[in-house]
Amino acid sequence: METNGPLLGIETSCDETSVALVARDGRVLASEIASQVAKHRPFGGVVPEIASREHLRTLPGMVEYVLEKGSASIESIEGVAVTSGPGLIGALLVGVAASQGICYGSGKPLVAVNHLEGHLFSAWLRRGEAALEVPRTLTSLVVSGGHSSIYRMADGRVGMLNRTRDDAAGEVFDKVAKFIGLPYPGGPHVDRIAKDGDANRFKFALPRFKDDSADFSFSGLKANAIRLARELDLVDQDLPREEQHADLADFCASFQKAVCDQLIDRLERIVGDAEPHEIGLTGGVAANSELRARFTQWCEEKGHVPRVAERVYCTDNGAMIAFAGWRKLLRGETSSPLRQPARSRWQPGEPVAV
Ligand code: KG4
Ligand code: ZN
Repeated sequence: METNGPLLGIETSCDETSVALVARDGRVLASEIASQVAKHRPFGGVVPEIASREHLRTLPGMVEYVLEKGSASIESIEGVAVTSGPGLIGALLVGVAASQGICYGSGKPLVAVNHLEGHLFSAWLRRGEAALEVPRTLTSLVVSGGHSSIYRMADGRVGMLNRTRDDAAGEVFDKVAKFIGLPYPGGPHVDRIAKDGDANRFKFALPRFKDDSADFSFSGLKANAIRLARELDLVDQDLPREEQHADLADFCASFQKAVCDQLIDRLERIVGDAEPHEIGLTGGVAANSELRARFTQWCEEKGHVPRVAERVYCTDNGAMIAFAGWRKLLRGETSSPLRQPARSRWQPGEPVAV
């Protein structure tokens, strides 16, 4: 397939509006992310209606700006890759409808990208350079605010190896952080405060299932962490005084270690003994300092090659959507701009109606 222009990537599945231009070799030519965090913060979580309205307000100007920054135009792009699910349906619809409009008007192909597929390949993107070659067989741990799963791609086909039975890893960071009064989203704050703490001071047990499944489960950890926070009188700490509470850093470090312990335990059980291969660490929680260090160390001990997503590509972004979109475009997997739906639920690898 003759392709010269870049692919435009559009992401509006949750609370980040993001647009990027990505060349066929995975080089990110331009990328913008507008976070809505400040708008949702007063509510302690994402408010779907606010998310949709913000996307609607931000997206058109951002598309124009990114095209200009990347010295491209609608005429010169190869097509549009858009997150079509999973996510908040009203938020997804903004990106999908905009992409439909661009593609219908210009006759360019529309590529429907699964948000999780966007995350799972994001570990191979390199800032300012061509992306690393994505191997045909790989594993990728996706840990975000809405999802926690280990995926395997074998011979180009993606399958899910485990899932969370309750909360996602990022969700539990955010909920525990909210309980102790840290701003939304709490993950980065816990990460920062944990740096000064003793991670071995408080112990949390690893969740086990009767059927010995290697699924994730974070609700028990959430309940235990909240109970401990109450005992330590850490409830609703007031910033910036929170930093002065004697137990706060130890609490954050111990809780963060417990999340990492579980993620590494599941990796160990699912892919520890597999033939050495490349393993990705992706999604918003992949920005966590301790997780990045422990994941890298674990891969090296096991002989696997760690592919840790660069921090700019961890949280939601249009570059990863365009990058995953290229894989589909080159296989000819495009959708009709008149029929491409948004879907709130959609597993990677699951076929889509075109
Ligand atoms: O991938 P993402 O932007 O959105 C979803 O698709 O969910 O992930 C956002 C999540 C939030 O839960 C946030 O607290 C978490 O990623 N996060 C972190 C860190 N940075 C972001 N969690 C722990 N440590 C961090 N440094
Ligand atoms: Zn995400």
